[in-house]
Amino acid sequence: MHHDSHAQVQEKGDLAVLFVCLGNICRSPLAQGIFTAVMRERQGTYTLLIDSAGTGAWHAGSAPDPRSIDIARRHGIDISSQRARRIEEDDFDRFDLILGMDRSNVETLRSVAPRGAAGRIHLFCDVATGSGTDIPDPYYGGAEGFDAVYRMIRDAAASLADRLADPRLLSMLRSGQASSTI
Ligand code: 4NP
Repeated sequence: MHHDSHAQVQEKGDLAVLFVCLGNICRSPLAQGIFTAVMRERQGTYTLLIDSAGTGAWHAGSAPDPRSIDIARRHGIDISSQRARRIEEDDFDRFDLILGMDRSNVETLRSVAPRGAAGRIHLFCDVATGSGTDIPDPYYGGAEGFDAVYRMIRDAAASLADRLADPRLLSMLRSGQASSTI
């Protein structure tokens, strides 16, 4: 799955980042596509595995919401080949950073994660900017909600890329030692 995002950042990376929302059709597919695009532009010295998942399985197997596909496409990013999936046990081993889009996602992740994975679960905007901002669920709103979510994710993804340029942070993240206020 998610072949587009894996292809150029490598199947097995030095750092593995998983974006998680509720349905894996609106926010986390955008985060996967945007962060992949941002990291490709930067051409860092390490390889990344970037993926996304949902805490719920209602949309498993589905393409992203058409409104997410649309807003990404208007910014030159194709997320149409992504397919939704629910987070699974294995993900808590495979990923160095497991980033919930809002507090509710983070709470769910913490409640289902095996012991030992807690240090790798963070609120996306905490890790990215330290702001503690939630990326709000746009599913029941209009297109303007997707515009706002796109901008928020784009800004946070750029900030996260800035932070990852620090090799000390990278090694902290890889060892699972990062706090929620890195
Ligand atoms: P997402 O948005 O978590 O950003 O993918 C949602 C998509 C679907 C539902 C809720 C949120 N749903 O209830 O079906």
